[in-house]
Amino acid sequence: MVCAYRARATRWPTPLFVDPWAEALAGTDGHEIAERLDQRFPPMEHWLALRVAYLDRLVALAVDRLSIRQVVILGAGYDTRAARIPRAGVRYFEVDHPATQAAKRERLAGLAGYPVDAATYVTCNFEREDPIERLAATGFDTAEPALVIWEGVVPYLTEAAVRATATRLAAGLDPRSLVAFDFVGKKLATGQSLSGADQQTRAYVGELGEPIQFGTDDVLPLLAACGFRWVRSLDFNELALELLGDYQRDRQFRFQHIALAAVKPPVAGWP
Ligand SMILES: C[S@@+](CC[C@H](N)C(=O)[O-])C[C@H]1O[C@@H](n2cnc3c(N)ncnc32)[C@H](O)[C@@H]1O
Repeated sequence: MVCAYRARATRWPTPLFVDPWAEALAGTDGHEIAERLDQRFPPMEHWLALRVAYLDRLVALAVDRLSIRQVVILGAGYDTRAARIPRAGVRYFEVDHPATQAAKRERLAGLAGYPVDAATYVTCNFEREDPIERLAATGFDTAEPALVIWEGVVPYLTEAAVRATATRLAAGLDPRSLVAFDFVGKKLATGQSLSGADQQTRAYVGELGEPIQFGTDDVLPLLAACGFRWVRSLDFNELALELLGDYQRDRQFRFQHIALAAVKPPVAGWP
């Protein structure tokens, strides 16, 4: 579904990013799921386009300007950054639930020209496994900084898994690393006092087999408790204003945020 939205955003007259693989990778099933979600939550295409565009820019900043040589994509799904933002000497690690990763790798095998070796594939179930241990076992260097992108995953985990994973990242990564993830607000996660449209969206995502389990209106206390000491949070209206140049109330970006976290205040040049 996310891939289908990336394919659509690639066709915008002035695209925020181009993903040449997304159309084929999404398949008709991906497009159908996205079209059904459109009926419940029309701004989804914009939300995902902004999320992808912002995180792409963060990857480019990290590897081109800040000499980061390891990019970790946690809960990678059908992410294509390893193919889209390749750099000499930069290693991509795609960490995902074994079932999702196996499905992706099967699809990639049928995608002519896709550089499957651009990423190192690492399986991990965040509900019960340690991502740092799993990464280290495949050649990830914990003594070197990394950019960790945890995109579209946190809402689908239990709070215990979010805390356990974030705690391991804070303790196990080189302190010069940066973690970026998106999260939703508490109301959407708990289903309390939502509008009809938001209830329908939440229910539909649950029907797809990945119910929303975790949300927060204030991510800083959680990240502080997990060991992070530098936190920034952005909301999607801020991203829309910056990347699309306008504010539209009916985009309904009320519950979506992106957090950046590090255990040390980052060097000058971080966003
Ligand atoms: C909505 S997809 C997002 C995929 C991708 N990051 C993107 O933005 O396109 C959610 C991802 O979270 C992963 N995920 C969900 N629960 C997980 C768990 N317990 N352990 C590891 N990965 C999990 C899924 O396998 C899937 O890849």
